[in-house]
Amino acid sequence: MSNQKLFNVAVVGATGAVGEQIIRLLAERNFPIQELKLLSSARSAGSKVSFKGQEITVQEATPDSFQGVDIALFSAGGDVSKALIPEAIKHGTVCVDNTSAFRMDPETPLVVPEVNIDKVNEHKGVIANPNCSTIQMVQTLKPLYDRYGISRIIVSTYQAVSGAGARAIDEMLRQSREVLAGNEVEPQILPVGSLPKKHQIAFNAIPQIDKFVENGFTYEEMKMINETKKIMGDESLEVTATCVRVPVVYGHSESVYVELKSDFDIEEVKQLLADAPGIILQDNPAEQVYPLATDAAGKLETFVGRVRRDLSNPRALNLWIVSDNLLKGAAWNAVQIAEYIAIEQN
Ligand SMILES: NC(=O)c1ccc[n+]([C@@H]2O[C@H](COP(=O)([O-])OP(=O)(O)OC[C@H]3O[C@@H](n4cnc5c(N)ncnc54)[C@H](OP(=O)(O)O)[C@@H]3O)[C@@H](O)[C@H]2O)c1
Repeated sequence: MSNQKLFNVAVVGATGAVGEQIIRLLAERNFPIQELKLLSSARSAGSKVSFKGQEITVQEATPDSFQGVDIALFSAGGDVSKALIPEAIKHGTVCVDNTSAFRMDPETPLVVPEVNIDKVNEHKGVIANPNCSTIQMVQTLKPLYDRYGISRIIVSTYQAVSGAGARAIDEMLRQSREVLAGNEVEPQILPVGSLPKKHQIAFNAIPQIDKFVENGFTYEEMKMINETKKIMGDESLEVTATCVRVPVVYGHSESVYVELKSDFDIEEVKQLLADAPGIILQDNPAEQVYPLATDAAGKLETFVGRVRRDLSNPRALNLWIVSDNLLKGAAWNAVQIAEYIAIEQN
């Protein structure tokens, strides 16, 4: 992207698990930056972050932080986005938001570049990045949706602790050491930081991500259901989800059952997946080849394997989908959107 317009860019939540990856990707991708502003809460203000060999001082995010900022990438929680994005828009800043604050707003495009990048052009100042577990699923299902149509999706997730932020990673590692040392663990963060009751995550699986809605689903599950329909642009899609936190550091894994609207050839399905942008097919049971969170960690792609026709419904498929939740599930998807905005403005 050399010889192009340069942009003043802000990262809000720069000291967090997602913000750290956004900064790394902006450097690695050589994003056309004039000035990079790193913003956090007052807690981290004053700390230094290195960017392309330069030390940048983190500042507290305030409504005035966006003066002269062209593009801001937000990952500081929904409340911060709700408070500061309208202020940033007043300054003419285009915002890419990683939180759930604007995702279901009918005026806000909800974008996975491989699925609906053209929606970015409809923005009114903010483009929402979907939930991490939704991104990797819709990205993988898009070529199947286009070729065969999809009537129903049943997904169960196995989600990494990094999805709950930097402190949840520390908690899982600390608890693991405590259990191995034969000590009592004192859960402090998971499943939901703002709820009083906590559960052990080390050597465990917790069937709760985010708070519960009155219908018995969690918000994370409802995000997967509602966001999938919005991104695919198909309200008739039947989606159900069970979201589970597992003691994995990076990479969400998903078991996905999909009912297609027409007959399919399983080899053609594999070829469609192999050819899809950003997808890597890893599917060779004879050689025990399938996606693993440990392999997906640190990668930008989404990995799919265990591709098989269902035994009870010949029009249904079972898939195993894995991606790094901090990258394609958050930072990389946001940077892809920012790159599109930058290219459009040149
Ligand atoms: N982790 C994922 O896989 C993932 C995926 C998709 C979306 N997201 C979303 O991205 C957001 C951040 O997630 P994370 O995992 O990066 O969390 P995190 O590791 O806890 O980091 C939170 C960041 O937000 C900043 N922050 C907190 N309160 C603030 C305030 N009042 N004003 C300004 N900055 C504030 C923190 O700054 P301090 O250092 O000052 O505390 C920190 O930089 C969440 O909304 C999350 O839902 C996360």
